[in-house]
Amino acid sequence: MCGIVGYNGKGNNTLRILIDGLKALEYRGYDSAGVAYKNNEINIVKSVGKINELEQKIDFDIDTCMGIGHTRWATHGEVNLTNSHPHHVGDVTIVHNGIIENFNEIKKELMNNGYKFNTTTDTEIACGLIDYYYKECNDIKEALVKFMDKVKGSYALGVMTKDSDTIYSVRKDSPLIIAKGENGNFIASDTIAVSKYADSVMYLEENIIAEITNDSITLFDKDLKEVESNFKLIDKSVDNTDKCGYDHYMLKEIHEQPKVFRDTVSPYLENGIDSLIDTMPDFTKYNRIDIVACGSAYHTGLVGKSLIEEFADVPVNVEVASEYRYKKNFYDDKTLVIVVSQSGETADTLAALRKAKDDNIDTLAIVNVEGSTMAREADVLLKIKAGREIAVATTKAYSAQVAMLSLIALNLANAKGNIDKEEIKEILKDIKELPVKIENTILNSDYTNIAEAIYKNDNIFFIGRGIDYALSMEGSLKLKEISYINSQAYAAGELKHGTISLIEEGTPVIGILTEEDLILKTISNIEEVKSRGAVTIGVTNSDINSKFDYKIEVPKVHKLLQPLLTVVPLQLISYEVAKLRECSIDQPKNLAKSVTVE
Ligand code: F6R
Repeated sequence: MCGIVGYNGKGNNTLRILIDGLKALEYRGYDSAGVAYKNNEINIVKSVGKINELEQKIDFDIDTCMGIGHTRWATHGEVNLTNSHPHHVGDVTIVHNGIIENFNEIKKELMNNGYKFNTTTDTEIACGLIDYYYKECNDIKEALVKFMDKVKGSYALGVMTKDSDTIYSVRKDSPLIIAKGENGNFIASDTIAVSKYADSVMYLEENIIAEITNDSITLFDKDLKEVESNFKLIDKSVDNTDKCGYDHYMLKEIHEQPKVFRDTVSPYLENGIDSLIDTMPDFTKYNRIDIVACGSAYHTGLVGKSLIEEFADVPVNVEVASEYRYKKNFYDDKTLVIVVSQSGETADTLAALRKAKDDNIDTLAIVNVEGSTMAREADVLLKIKAGREIAVATTKAYSAQVAMLSLIALNLANAKGNIDKEEIKEILKDIKELPVKIENTILNSDYTNIAEAIYKNDNIFFIGRGIDYALSMEGSLKLKEISYINSQAYAAGELKHGTISLIEEGTPVIGILTEEDLILKTISNIEEVKSRGAVTIGVTNSDINSKFDYKIEVPKVHKLLQPLLTVVPLQLISYEVAKLRECSIDQPKNLAKSVTVE
């Protein structure tokens, strides 16, 4: 959450570089934004709203070679101009991503030392603390060491002082990269912010101070001894941010799913099932799997649970990371903890991973972003190949995560001899044909007429059984996050234990019916809501006739792969509903793509 960027260079297009960087980081938060730049003194320009608003306030003719910028997702303090970053106290100006947990205690101490604060943010206090130490020891690096020792919580900082032409950075539990280009040096929350201008990049480790001048980058440990840097060339191909003619990134990313599926699974299946065995870890040594994740990634875990339990006979416990990290866990040396995350930076998921590692439990990460913290810290990485996902609501990364969990289920089922050669042949054939089937599912049905029928409703329900219940949860989350309609997912058989009282004339109920053995059961639940006035929409792989008001038929494939088709109509119905409601589809209100605070 929040995006930071900084530039120290030789060119005089600093403000353009900062604004371009912030635009690329807007997915991390878009409540307000600001930049601080140096020309003789430090100047700050801020605005409430998206980066476009800030851009309009900036005079790009100003001659400046150094600056820091910030796009905010508010944690402490409401969204307003005063609370937006950069913050400035005394001789120090900073941008911050993270949360300073002990800011109240620090605030009191600083106020006792004569400091006055204007905002309700934790960042202004962090800035005051750095200023206090800077004045005390007259050395900004020493001040940052003291700062790191004092604060609790998470931070990635870009720091400028009144007296020097250098940017300093430190981080803990929030991501930060440093990058070099022909005309200067950079810091940012994500490589995408600087890939247009920089050539090589490295991830800043915790407890390291980066000193960035216009022609050098020097790293120091907490004893202020110089440490080595390790830059790698930036892979610019992954940072394509073109919408390619689509109205929204979300739609573009939905359309990318056939390719993403192919790219994600094919490295594991070059020589059929044998290469799957060779390229994946040996899962047979585990008698329990814990899948830990947040949001949609958590929903992929629920799909994974259904598949791994059914096909591989291994019990799977799926938990929301924000709960898992603080509860008693019953894992042991025969447990594998799998974390699932698009960004690889989600604070709670990362904390769950670190907890398992601290307890010496084997860990595996299913992650999209190369080089992210989870990708680096897990014992084993299974990288999905979704490419850059820009829409805040995940679609293609969700599918790729599901695909990876399906491969794990297949691998384990095969290793345990639970599926025979014929079935494996059938699965491999379906895998080959799946991209075309996903494409047809995207193109062949009319999702707009369903959207027209439901978009004015205040409440919408999703119901399903088994794996279809896990998909209902994803469908419901997708709808509420981008269209702001209150929607709930229910296990189809559970509705009548209370929630059915909310069904009235015209309430839309979307039933998901792909589990062969359970379709008739869910049909009965559809009939129950229908007789109470619901408008019923069926998403099914069966040709069964029921009293659906609307029906979307998806191709029937092996159960290990079915969710990858079933989710498509759910994504597109949400998209069309949000479009009709004129919502900000790619950047829904209150959300941010990378949730790096707990
Ligand atoms: C919903 C969505 C979120 C993320 C969640 C976890 O569309 O995108 O629910 O799935 O914030 O994020 P990652 O996968 O980056 O850990």
